[in-house]
Amino acid sequence: MASITDISHDHLFSILVLLPLESILSFSMTCKKTISLTRSHTLWKSLCARDWGQSTVDAIIASSSSSPLSLDWNGVYRRFRNLDRVSCFNLTDTEAGPSPRASHSLNFFSGCLVLFGGGCEGGRHLDDTWIAHTGNGYKRIVNWQRVISGGPSGRFGHSCVVIGNCLVLFGGINDSGIRQNDTWIAQQDTATTLSWRLLDVGTVAPPPRGAHASCSIDNQRMLVHGGIGLSGTRLGDTWVLYLSENLCFGTWHQSVSHPVPSPRSGHTLTCIGGSRTVLFGGRGMGYEVLNDVWYFDSSQGHLRWVQVLFELTNIAGGPSLARVGHSATLTSGGRVLVYGGEDSYRHRKDDFWLLDVSQTRRMWRRLRCEGYQPRSRSFHQACADESGRYLYVFGGMVDGILQPAEPSGLRFDGEIFVVDLLL
Ligand SMILES: *[C@@H]1O[C@H](CO)[C@@H](O)[C@H](O)[C@H]1NC(C)=O
Ligand SMILES: *[C@@H]1O[C@H](CO)[C@@H](O)[C@H](O)[C@H]1NC(C)=O
Ligand SMILES: *[C@@H]1O[C@H](CO)[C@@H](O)[C@H](O)[C@H]1NC(C)=O
Repeated sequence: MASITDISHDHLFSILVLLPLESILSFSMTCKKTISLTRSHTLWKSLCARDWGQSTVDAIIASSSSSPLSLDWNGVYRRFRNLDRVSCFNLTDTEAGPSPRASHSLNFFSGCLVLFGGGCEGGRHLDDTWIAHTGNGYKRIVNWQRVISGGPSGRFGHSCVVIGNCLVLFGGINDSGIRQNDTWIAQQDTATTLSWRLLDVGTVAPPPRGAHASCSIDNQRMLVHGGIGLSGTRLGDTWVLYLSENLCFGTWHQSVSHPVPSPRSGHTLTCIGGSRTVLFGGRGMGYEVLNDVWYFDSSQGHLRWVQVLFELTNIAGGPSLARVGHSATLTSGGRVLVYGGEDSYRHRKDDFWLLDVSQTRRMWRRLRCEGYQPRSRSFHQACADESGRYLYVFGGMVDGILQPAEPSGLRFDGEIFVVDLLL
């Protein structure tokens, strides 16, 4: 059946003249009603909540200068769906805050940013934990406070994820250059204190490693893949940590399935909701830099990898996607924002990409960046607040200012900026 919009004006006219007056009026009323319904901001607000999440809707209301009643939700929906740019703000406070570093961890946890460790100038590996409260509003202020606590030993290339109301940290490379396989857990005591404790995992743990990828799945378990192992080789194993209900014990299980992503380091794992996780990029066994995308399905009874194929030559800029040391952060609507990293020539990148692997759309799209233009960087960290609309990015390796062409011009960065998804 042809849609009524496909029928020519003349043809419709000739049909209408054959109809009784009541039918014409009823048709007209139906059209009017439908128009008013589809223009209703209440409808589009509900669709925004359905597709981007209620927390995103709340964030849009909180940051809007107009009243929620006068917001153009149809426009908001359209802009979000067709998102083609981000806007950045430099939030760096040179007075206070963590020192420049790379390969640290950064999480959004209980309404705060939590940063731990990393590598810094002089080859030392840091063991400091910092907390910052992020205020509400458009340009958020970050006030860093250092937490005094006996946490994990100094390290970089570890991974840290939020599971329920705790942070779980695994592995990394310590100050003697030794790869670790210890598991730590942190809980918030008061608004500005956090305490770390070594988690009892019994006798089984993944082999020691650094530069692996992790994320939390189902907000219950921690997934770990790959990294660089004790002998310096890149690993391709998959492990899942189950926490006991009282958070006193953890149990590591290796997940063995076929096919699996090839061994790699400096890649990312991003949980895109529930039991769906996306793996992207990294550096392979032959030092090659990768651009493949994998999907990890951890729904009931499954723990398996599936490769998601893209025809990169059909995507504008697609061939430049291969990278290691990038960030890949879950944003509103289950989409992943990929930023920075470096290519096989160790050239650092400053590009933003949106990756959507939801059932209905499979898409890579390069986003423009407005406002503050952050430098190219790699081995930085990024996390999104609960709305999935604002992302915080801290540190990483950037090109030195004096001789950008020389490898020795490389330096650790201590800047923090926020990336706003919606203009
Ligand atoms: C970001 O802000 C900090 C503090 O105001 C400033 O020192 C730094 O130069 C800024 N970064 C850039 C690249 O403008
Ligand atoms: C690094 O880890 C190794 C093995 O776990 C340990 O023996 C060594 O003392 C650690 N070094 C530092 C500085 O913590
Ligand atoms: C951590 O790795 C070491 C190898 O260095 C291994 O002996 C140890 O059993 C591992 N830890 C656990 C809890 O499995």
